[in-house]
Amino acid sequence: MQEAGVNLVSLAIFSWSRIEPAAATYDFAWLDRIMDLLHSGGIAVDLATATASPPPWLSHRHPEMLPITIDGVRLWHGARQHYCPSSPVYRDAARHLVEQMATRYASHPALAMWHVGNEFGCHVPACYCDVSANAFRKWLQERYGAIEDLNRAWGTDFWSQRYSKWDEVLPPRRTPTWPNPSQQLDFMRFSSDELLACYEIEHDVLKEHSPGVPVTTNFMRFFKPLDYWKWAEREDIVTDDVYQDPSDPEAGMRSAMAGDLMRSLGRGRPWVLMEQTSSRVNWREVNVAKAPGQMRLWSFQAVARGADGVMFFQWRQSRAGAEKFHSAMVPHGPVSSSPVWKEVKQLGQELRGLDAVCGSRVKADVAIVFDWESWWALELPSKPSIRIRQEAQLEEYYRPLFAANVVADFARPTDDLSGYRLVLVPNLYLVDDEGAAGLTSYVRNGGTLVMSFFSGVVDQFEHIHLGGHPAPFADILGLRVADWLPLADGEHVDVAFADGAKGHGDLWSEIIETSGARSLASFAGGHLDKRAAVTKHEFGSGAAYYVGTRLDRASMARFLHSVWTDAGVSPELEAPSGVEVMRRSVGHRSILFLLNHRDRAVDVPLAQAGTNLVDGSQVHAGLFRLGPYGAAVIREGW
Ligand code: GLA
Repeated sequence: MQEAGVNLVSLAIFSWSRIEPAAATYDFAWLDRIMDLLHSGGIAVDLATATASPPPWLSHRHPEMLPITIDGVRLWHGARQHYCPSSPVYRDAARHLVEQMATRYASHPALAMWHVGNEFGCHVPACYCDVSANAFRKWLQERYGAIEDLNRAWGTDFWSQRYSKWDEVLPPRRTPTWPNPSQQLDFMRFSSDELLACYEIEHDVLKEHSPGVPVTTNFMRFFKPLDYWKWAEREDIVTDDVYQDPSDPEAGMRSAMAGDLMRSLGRGRPWVLMEQTSSRVNWREVNVAKAPGQMRLWSFQAVARGADGVMFFQWRQSRAGAEKFHSAMVPHGPVSSSPVWKEVKQLGQELRGLDAVCGSRVKADVAIVFDWESWWALELPSKPSIRIRQEAQLEEYYRPLFAANVVADFARPTDDLSGYRLVLVPNLYLVDDEGAAGLTSYVRNGGTLVMSFFSGVVDQFEHIHLGGHPAPFADILGLRVADWLPLADGEHVDVAFADGAKGHGDLWSEIIETSGARSLASFAGGHLDKRAAVTKHEFGSGAAYYVGTRLDRASMARFLHSVWTDAGVSPELEAPSGVEVMRRSVGHRSILFLLNHRDRAVDVPLAQAGTNLVDGSQVHAGLFRLGPYGAAVIREGW
């Protein structure tokens, strides 16, 4: 570990059955030895609470703690993460274990951070058992008070779903056809909250025993089941697990987007890349290896996007068990001939040079509005088109920013957006009055906003906002949508821009009736011929753009480029295509990150001289050469 520059180790994540081999019988000797050994070697520990995977004796004794799927199938022990989040048996056993862990290690000198559970919601994001059903009813009673209010909120007169007693209410188990959408949405909120409650039980025990030690749990990028906005508020530091698919040509863009989300969840504070693989995973059908240099490049990318730490799953590749074909820092074979080990060591040495980066911040002029509840509601079935997927739509807006090195944060609709020059709103399908008011006042006070089709459709109960779509935003957009015309797979509609450029849209089209908005592009051909497709409306001291289709990539890039330029947003640096540029700053001092995502060398024009912290070399203004998958971290002029 010292050879690889390791200074922090995640420990004991799936060790419950080793630590507590029988009820209330503990074996800490092995863990004490490893904690002491690491400490004596100058390595700190991110100590797990070990509660992610209960031991067989617990579920053998209490099968009622095992989770039940939507189809009523019980998931048995023998893999991992087999617990019902609402189970009092699981929660009590987890609390007892954490009390033991916290008491024993709170003042151990190796302890640097607590790692609660592991990837909450991975494998089992929701449980449909009777215990969960009871907990769901309690959660609903707190939310609605009276059964009549639940009936109103869920619109239960439709399809004869009216409830007369709380006992009749169920989780949305397998039904003949779509269960009530408001019920499904509430169940998603409930399931995220139930897992958060498990986290909080452990968090509170840890804070009681070791108040000064930061507490985290590892996130999973854009993980749909958990509302990470709520979760991040309960963490001292945001940590994330990122497993890019090297066969995906846009893998680098996707991990950049995840990094921006993590920074935003922590409200700008540095985060930690908790897990990545040194080369391959084992859980895809074909597990393509990272190209030489790609692991190093993506590690620096996490730092560029605001991370202050880079970690791995796993240290030593295991001989047995389900993950023995997952790459590790130390592979099965001899390290002397392993290119992976060589790259791991190189990265460890290079990260040592980056102390000046720690604590520095990323500044973004653009925000992308993204809300978990809206995501859940958008992807419920029974829609004009179920082809509209939240992550894909976020990417439509993110892609041109990433390609041009324009930095964006993510934000909730209710956040204070006044510090951003430009706010992008891709498919904010669900919005409550507060969110709508926030976005409205952002534009009124001078902000520039771009909103996509199928936004502002329902409220927090999943009830349509009446008054003509998109009712909450009709005033700022200066338009109403008379009808939605989703496009079939493979269907396109031509789009003609006012400046003469031609493009097309797919996925969606609609009949836009402007009432103050100006058309920047119109549909061309068919019965939508000459009707507005992209509009702009001056509202208050700001401007609101609207996009009524999914534009082809070139048109989208051109359109967003003109919008951000008008809004006074500029790229970090004009760099050759495939080169990612980021900047982190401390006060007036800045550190420039250059990341070459291509497999051949490129020259990047630099305006300022500086020091490349990766290898300590001096960098001059002018052309700077980056090798294939190369990375440089340049302290600019200080
Ligand atoms: C997750 C888990 C790890 C491991 C990796 C494999 O991130 O946290 O325990 O299973 O996946 O990629």
